[in-house]
Amino acid sequence: MKSYSVLASVACLLTAAVAAHADAPDTWAKNCASCHGADGAGHTKAGRLLHAKDLTDAAYLKTFSDDQAFKAVKEGFKDADGKDKMKPFSDKLSDDEIKTLVAYVRTLAK
Ligand code: HEC
Repeated sequence: MKSYSVLASVACLLTAAVAAHADAPDTWAKNCASCHGADGAGHTKAGRLLHAKDLTDAAYLKTFSDDQAFKAVKEGFKDADGKDKMKPFSDKLSDDEIKTLVAYVRTLAK
């Protein structure tokens, strides 16, 4: 009986992880693609204006850690002059959603 309930909760966790992952492209399309583009390359009007860098470039992805990316999305991203580049998403997205998006960004590299 006991081992059955452990199995059931493991199955439950796995389903949740898969569901969160499947949501990432959707969350990306709704919140991030306006600047970064559907593919992450940043070839949008807003992306060009703000000089969004190419998130499909594996070399650029290496310039920041998962923690830095998490912080940039949660708290916003300013350039060296203190100008807002990306607004904070802390009021729109949960920590889990942001973590899933950071993992998703890692898959955009070509
Ligand atoms: C208003 C336009 C805009 C939106 C919307 C936006 N970003 Fe950004 N993002 C930028 C710009 C501009 C940069 C800065 C690029 C640079 O110069 O490094 C950036 C940087 C980043 C970085 C790199 C951070 C670093 O440390 O270099 C990540 C990762 C990122 N964005 C993810 C996201 C995710 C995930 C979303 C959706 C939740 C999102 N962005 C929404 C414009 C935007």
